[in-house]
Amino acid sequence: MTEDDQSTDEAQFDYIYHLRLDHLLSTMRQVTPHPEEHLFVTVHHVLELWFKQIIFDLERIIALLDADDLAQATWLMGRIAEILKLAEAHWTVLETMSAADFAEFRGQLTGASGMQSRQFRQVEVMIGLHETAGDDYVRRTERLWPGLIGAHPRTLRGAFFEAFARHDATLLDVYRDRWRRHDLFRLAETAFEIDRRFQSWRQNHILMVRRQIGIRAKGTGGTYFRDYLATTTGYVFFPELFEFRNELTADAGGEVMAADD
Ligand code: HEM
Repeated sequence: MTEDDQSTDEAQFDYIYHLRLDHLLSTMRQVTPHPEEHLFVTVHHVLELWFKQIIFDLERIIALLDADDLAQATWLMGRIAEILKLAEAHWTVLETMSAADFAEFRGQLTGASGMQSRQFRQVEVMIGLHETAGDDYVRRTERLWPGLIGAHPRTLRGAFFEAFARHDATLLDVYRDRWRRHDLFRLAETAFEIDRRFQSWRQNHILMVRRQIGIRAKGTGGTYFRDYLATTTGYVFFPELFEFRNELTADAGGEVMAADD
């Protein structure tokens, strides 16, 4: 009998079987003899697992928003924000591998870079980054992952703004009337939180990169900071959620400079 045939009422159904730990743990494979590579691989594995969970939940969230189940959608979006917070905490663990240790084995990782994470790009696309990040982002994503954008015609951004339209609500109205329009207010705050956490993850990845290889070093993916990672810091999923806050401030008598066109 194969492992897949095993039914849940058998004695063998246990922790190891349920979690398929034999499969999961056997994926650790160092390509260098350096002991610090173990941590490097573990952190990548863990983040990829979290990306998988985020993708799984994003699909549910988009369907829930389309069904106008704002409460459940918001609850699950809160989970994504928490996962992103946790994801960011991995940088300080990775930083216990010193730059000197990393330098001793990174030369053997030629070509392998987090930039090639398909799941990371899928998360961005499912939230809707290609709708806001500009033509270069779309071109690059289509070149590296043909069909990825087309496979996700429905984004979290799209579902979010359609929910607002369905309820005949603008962001400004909802924030002003937040205790009576609490569902939409919570939805918007949670979307903001996902955006903010994602930006924080990017910024702190960059700080970690500066610490591990230096700001002028070429990445194993072949890019210089100035030419690639620096261009990603302005990426925002919901620029509208950042922008309308200026109006709130201006309406309350605050001084706000004109928007750049
Ligand atoms: C010592 C550790 C690390 C260093 C020095 C590093 C360095 C870099 C560099 C230089 C890039 C730009 C592309 C390139 O030329 O390679 C990059 C991109 C990226 N890295 Fe890392 N990285 C590290 C760890 C990680 C880990 C653990 C993850 C987890 C999945 C990760 C995820 C990513 C992602 C997703 C990108 C693409 C970002 C984007 O396109 O916006 N990195 N990394």
